[in-house]
Amino acid sequence: MLTNFREAAVPPGAAAADVVSRTEIPLVSGGSRSGHHDELARDPLGLLQRAAAEAVGGLAQLSIGNRPFLVVSTHTAAADVLEDTSRAFAKPKMGSWRRLLGGSLLCTNGADWARARRRVRLVAGPATAEIARSAARVAVRCSNAWPVDGEVALLPEMRAIALGSAFELLTGSAPDLDVPAFTAALDTVLRHIQEVESTPDRKRCGGQEAFEESVRNLRRQVDPMALRWSTEVGGSRLLRPAGPEAYRGYPERAVDDLLGYLVAGYESTATTLTWSILLLAEHPDEQAAVRGGHRDAERSVVAEALRLYPPAWALLRAAVRPTAVGGVPVPPGALVLCSPYLIHRDPVVFPRPTNFAPSRWDKPHPDLPRHAYVPFGSGQRACPGRTMAATGTAAVLSTLAGRFEFRPSTAHPSPEVRVTLQPPLDTTVAVRRLPGSGRPSPAVPDPHADDRTVKENGNAI
Ligand code: HEM
Repeated sequence: MLTNFREAAVPPGAAAADVVSRTEIPLVSGGSRSGHHDELARDPLGLLQRAAAEAVGGLAQLSIGNRPFLVVSTHTAAADVLEDTSRAFAKPKMGSWRRLLGGSLLCTNGADWARARRRVRLVAGPATAEIARSAARVAVRCSNAWPVDGEVALLPEMRAIALGSAFELLTGSAPDLDVPAFTAALDTVLRHIQEVESTPDRKRCGGQEAFEESVRNLRRQVDPMALRWSTEVGGSRLLRPAGPEAYRGYPERAVDDLLGYLVAGYESTATTLTWSILLLAEHPDEQAAVRGGHRDAERSVVAEALRLYPPAWALLRAAVRPTAVGGVPVPPGALVLCSPYLIHRDPVVFPRPTNFAPSRWDKPHPDLPRHAYVPFGSGQRACPGRTMAATGTAAVLSTLAGRFEFRPSTAHPSPEVRVTLQPPLDTTVAVRRLPGSGRPSPAVPDPHADDRTVKENGNAI
């Protein structure tokens, strides 16, 4: 989910600039005097699509800085990078992320990453019914404020649902924070990180002070909850510290870990929900199928939204020792960008790849190559929250489709490349409250939160 084009971990002394001359990997056409850097910042998806079209064996090179920069656009080449059986890749150093998340799993490598994995565990797998109920409950609570007949700005609404539900599930208690202030601060931080990552100029980007202030604000808000969460014994939280000693002497690590899981889960879930609803609004038949409870329809819709608009559109790695991708040697210091966005649009694997066709996922696909569909990554760094995300998003979608009819209120938006692949912030959808959906009080269980709407044996994700 997190990318950083600027700060590759180049081992001292690594001579990495000569991959162009030593390999058959084609250099992508275009590029200015500064190579492809400006275009990568301005129109990354356009550049990546050109890289896929010109690739040989799923590999193409960009001219970015003085080290090799490879783009991986097929599942066969992606397998080498994501599975990384010889431990030749690391996540590039992520300085800005570390300012926010310290030693969290999300932005560490090697021994620090292994320590973060040992400190805390997400036990979402056995808790699917609980995840679906919580997500549906939060969806009802948030959508109670929607108009009977009007428009809603989707992304902010889905952020509120994603954050509320993630907090509830991870910590086992309702978020004790100012949700608008929290999401605003997180927005400032994510925007700044995106700007820093994609700006060629290494000088400080503007907004550093606002970034630092927002980081302090977020950590301050999470601090009391992290203390409660990390010292509680038992409870229903899905994110569980390894034991009572896990944070002794290092209370700030509890903030790192809780905030890391929240940040990882929040924006990616919110954008997935936003795309899913936009696509449902444009496809009334699919919407009716979800509303009618047909064949895990909501899971198929989420799977297809994740195929077309994977929030983690680029998975970036830096080679830390000599290795090979698709049989081609890759020197230490090379950056390798695996793009789920490109991999998911391979017409050999997904016929008519740009069509929204949830029926692709109606039945299991034993023949689907393992790395052809990687919205949650793969290998050691794969997403630990995938069960929570898949179950929660399906439950929210089914709950909202049971309460509202959705219609498009604008033309289909092009994705914006931020930390995730998202529709513009002001994208709206027309909603009409369905007869009988009422406004249940938060204390009363919502009819759509029962097991009728909770499909636990989905096939796709
Ligand atoms: C639709 C929602 C989600 C999507 C598309 C998604 C996608 C991903 C992807 C692709 C990665 C791997 C990144 C890489 O290889 O560089 C990842 C990592 C991660 N995800 Fe998710 N994720 C989602 C939801 C969640 C949720 C709900 C949580 C937890 C509450 C979560 C926690 C994490 C963490 C902690 C990592 C880092 C794992 C590591 O580096 O070892 N994610 N996610």
